[in-house]
Amino acid sequence: MIKVTVPATSANLSVGFDCIGLAVDMQSKFTFEHNSNADLTISGCPSEFQNEDNLVYQGFKAVCNAIDQPVPKLSIQIHTNVPVSRGLGSSAACIVGGLVGANQWFDLPLNDQELLEIATKMEGHPDNVAPAIFGGLCMAFVDSNQQVQVVKYPVNKALQFVAIIPNFKISTAAARSVLPSQMSYPDVTHQVSHSLLMTHAVETGNLSQLKEAMNDRMHEPYRAKLIHHFDQIKAICNQFNSVLYISGSGSTMMAVTDQPTIKAQLVAQIKAAFPEWQVVPIMVDNHGAKSEVL
Ligand code: HSE
Repeated sequence: MIKVTVPATSANLSVGFDCIGLAVDMQSKFTFEHNSNADLTISGCPSEFQNEDNLVYQGFKAVCNAIDQPVPKLSIQIHTNVPVSRGLGSSAACIVGGLVGANQWFDLPLNDQELLEIATKMEGHPDNVAPAIFGGLCMAFVDSNQQVQVVKYPVNKALQFVAIIPNFKISTAAARSVLPSQMSYPDVTHQVSHSLLMTHAVETGNLSQLKEAMNDRMHEPYRAKLIHHFDQIKAICNQFNSVLYISGSGSTMMAVTDQPTIKAQLVAQIKAAFPEWQVVPIMVDNHGAKSEVL
């Protein structure tokens, strides 16, 4: 049996729209076994996803196709706490889980960069799949040769993250449909400078710089309106001098502080205000996807 573990991912980090993502220690686990009864059995997900369109299976198949191997009869088990359509990279985790599972199945014919190329084609953008594969904070984009460039940035250990996960979904398609189609030169300059400052502040752990840097003009002003109570969450974060960004396309928001005591206070206050939501202290996952043969 093959077991694969893939971290959830939080894309954009405010000013890194579609090119920056962070792996966090909320894991999805997938097992792959030979199936003697049927071509495909999938368990651990809603029945509507227990078929050949399942992204884990699609990922597995993509590696088989890339290395010219027939797709084996498979039994796939999925165990995940990553909520769907909440901006925590649930689809990227499934794609990467399938890719890494198949790669292990065939004794690792592809390297991580090759897996990233396939994953990016499947997902459409690399900002979740890159950290899901490599771990940590990754900047990634498709270059002029249609290759995925990826750079991993250090994350200062002083930074403390809290995932604030509402009890409602926002589809990525809906969250992209509210974005304007153009930006002005001043706004682009603002965005480039602030995303450079953001990666620097994440590396040094300088929270006041991070607060200045996470001032997005590309997507957050439009998407915040889709997240009920965003302003209330922002006010709580301001009260505790912590920084807030929308994780991926939402609905999850990520609070960042540099004080463990503030982290605990943030969790308590937001849980009290929104008892139906999940408020989860979360660590950075620096390893990315892992596979083992059991
Ligand atoms: N970068 C993407 C977006 C993440 O913000 O739309 C969602 O998968």
